[in-house]
Amino acid sequence: MTEHVSRRLPRHIGIIMDGNGRWAQRQGLDRIEGHRVGAESVRDITRAARELGVEALTLYAFSSQNWQRPVEEVMGLMQLLQDYLVGERAEILDNGIRLRAIGDSEKLPGTVRATLDELVGASAANRGMTLTLALSYGGRESIARAVRAVARDAAAGTLRPDDVDVDRFGGYLQTAGLPPLDLLIRTSGEQRISNFLLWEIAYAELIFVDALWPEFRRAHLHACLEQYGARERRFGLTSDQVASDVESS
Ligand code: FPP
Repeated sequence: MTEHVSRRLPRHIGIIMDGNGRWAQRQGLDRIEGHRVGAESVRDITRAARELGVEALTLYAFSSQNWQRPVEEVMGLMQLLQDYLVGERAEILDNGIRLRAIGDSEKLPGTVRATLDELVGASAANRGMTLTLALSYGGRESIARAVRAVARDAAAGTLRPDDVDVDRFGGYLQTAGLPPLDLLIRTSGEQRISNFLLWEIAYAELIFVDALWPEFRRAHLHACLEQYGARERRFGLTSDQVASDVESS
C-alpha cells in the first residue's frame, strides 16, 4: 500500500510550553528559574523555526488562568516577559520577524504592555516569520471576544447573521490572517489542550513530548517535524482521495 505522507514543513506551529515548574523543582530551584531557562528555549525555538522557514509560530506564554498563580510567580513572569521583549528587540527586527500578541493584553502591567505594543508596531511591516505570543490568553475567552464583536456588528446592521460562516467567524478571531494551525506541540508529557487555540486546532496534528519546556531545544523541534512529516493529513477525506490529490498536484 502506498504510504501517503505529508513531508512538508508545517506553515504554522503552536506550542504549549509546559513543565517549567517541574524542571525547576527537579533541580532544587525556585519555579521562576524554570521560567527563566524556559525563556532561553523560547529564543532557541524561535530562531530554529525561522531558520527552517516556518511562517508562523504561536507560543502559549501566559494563560487567562495563570493570573491566579502566586503573586510572586506572576510578577516574575511579567519581568521575564519584559526582559525578553527588550533583549530580543534587535533579533526580531534584524531578522524580519513580525511580532503579534493574542489574548487580553490590556490586563498586562503598563510597562510590559507599552514595550509589547511598541515592538508589535515596529515589526508590523516585517514579512518574515510571524511570532505570536499568547498572553493573558484563553481559547474560550478568545471565542467569546469574537462573538461579542460579531454581535456588535450584527446589532449595528453591518453584518447579516446568515452570513456568519466558518470563514467569516474566523476573521473575528485575533488569529485572523495567520496560516491555519498545522501542528500543535505540548511539552512535559501532559496530554491536554488547556484552553489553547480551541477554534484553530480543528485540523492540527497534535504531538505530545515528554521533555520539559526548559529542556526543549531545536533538536526536539526537529524530531517533532520528522513525526509531523510522517503523518497523513486527511481533512475529512479518505486516504485514497488524499493520495489522488497529492498525485494531481
Ligand atoms: C508552564 O509551565 C509555563 C508557563 C505558565 C509560562 C511559560 C513562560 C515562559 C516559557 C517564559 C517566559 C515567556 C517568554 C515569551 C519569554 P508550568 O509553570 O505550568 O510548569 P509545571 O506544570 O511543571 O508547574
